[in-house]
Amino acid sequence: MSFIEMKNICKKYAGAEKNSVTDFNLNIEEKEFIAFVGPSGCGKSTTLRMIAGFEEITSGELKIGGKVMNETAPRDRGIAMVFQNYALYPHMTVEKNISYGLKNMKVPANEIKKKVDWAIKILGLEEYRKRKPKNLSGGQRQRVALGRAIVKNQKVFLMDEPLSNLDAKLRVSMRNEISKLHRELGSTTIYVTHDQVEAMTMADRIVIMKDGVVQQVGKPMELYEHPVNKFVAGFIGSPQMNFYDVTINGNAVQFADGSKIILPENIIAKLNGKKDGLILGIRGEDIKLDSQNLDLYKNSVQHAVVENTEVMGNENNLYFTFGGVNTVARVSKYEISKVGDKIDFVFSPARIHFFDKETEKSIF
Ligand SMILES: Nc1ncnc2c1ncn2[C@@H]1O[C@H](COP(=O)(O)OP(=O)(O)O)[C@@H](O)[C@H]1O
Ligand SMILES: [Mg+2]
Repeated sequence: MSFIEMKNICKKYAGAEKNSVTDFNLNIEEKEFIAFVGPSGCGKSTTLRMIAGFEEITSGELKIGGKVMNETAPRDRGIAMVFQNYALYPHMTVEKNISYGLKNMKVPANEIKKKVDWAIKILGLEEYRKRKPKNLSGGQRQRVALGRAIVKNQKVFLMDEPLSNLDAKLRVSMRNEISKLHRELGSTTIYVTHDQVEAMTMADRIVIMKDGVVQQVGKPMELYEHPVNKFVAGFIGSPQMNFYDVTINGNAVQFADGSKIILPENIIAKLNGKKDGLILGIRGEDIKLDSQNLDLYKNSVQHAVVENTEVMGNENNLYFTFGGVNTVARVSKYEISKVGDKIDFVFSPARIHFFDKETEKSIF
């Protein structure tokens, strides 16, 4: 038995023409950190709100701790939730904001104090406990919002885009803090985000959704290395995977602009004789410019002119046209070129993905 069990959960909002969530199936183990990720409008918040009990489940079954929860009131589900647009009480200090919910739950005063002290310590808010929200930074406010949720000491912790209002640097540090908090609290956590980097860096397992339908569930690197379809391949990873319409001719892959690369027999064999209706996918870091790779795959060396660059130091992207489409290669700091430079490159054969153009399903 898993701690949270979701079976064929569907949501159709009153008056809506179609489902916002369709047949959501997932088992979550105790203490797991799960991320729901996908583009805006794909049904992440709806699913989370059904788990929390703020949104009715149209059909399907939700169990928490072995008990069916479909009709259970939110406060009796053993959950704490942090919303995207959390609102702190502006007239209350940090400690009052954190303790307020517990007072409402009629928790004895000495216990409230203990819990609030604990939360303030764990979140590093000691210096700010007497301050009001307007005198706090965005990150500090966000920690107060987390504090309000963690003092409830529930077994399930739900977070809906809790970092989306913070600037980039703060998001990175809060990401770490939430991961640390999860390790300390051990509560089963579901974290909703549209940001694949957050999902990749924080989650034990990622659930990736599109149009209300789960596309794939897996560990971050499973999704990165073995996406089940083109959507997952394109959504996970930055810069995005490069995609090309191709056909197969013997051992050669033919691109729309006439370019050709030769692939080893064993890779071609995996296509099971399929010759057209194919999309080739390759990540930027698997396009190689170094002399060793150019030498190794000298039958398939390609040429292009750099059209744009993004130089960040640790991460450097070269943009150019290949196979008829805009292509990005991720290169080391020793291989940075300028706009207008001619480059030679190869696709690392073992790192190539193929998708069926019609179904967009991954072939390998
Ligand atoms: N209260 C509502 N009534 C009708 N449709 C809604 C409601 N809330 C969300 N939706 C629709 O359900 C779909 C999923 O929304 P949502 O779960 O908020 O997506 P996400 O959180 O992934 O951005 C969207 O098409 C959205 O317009
Ligand atoms: Mg949402």
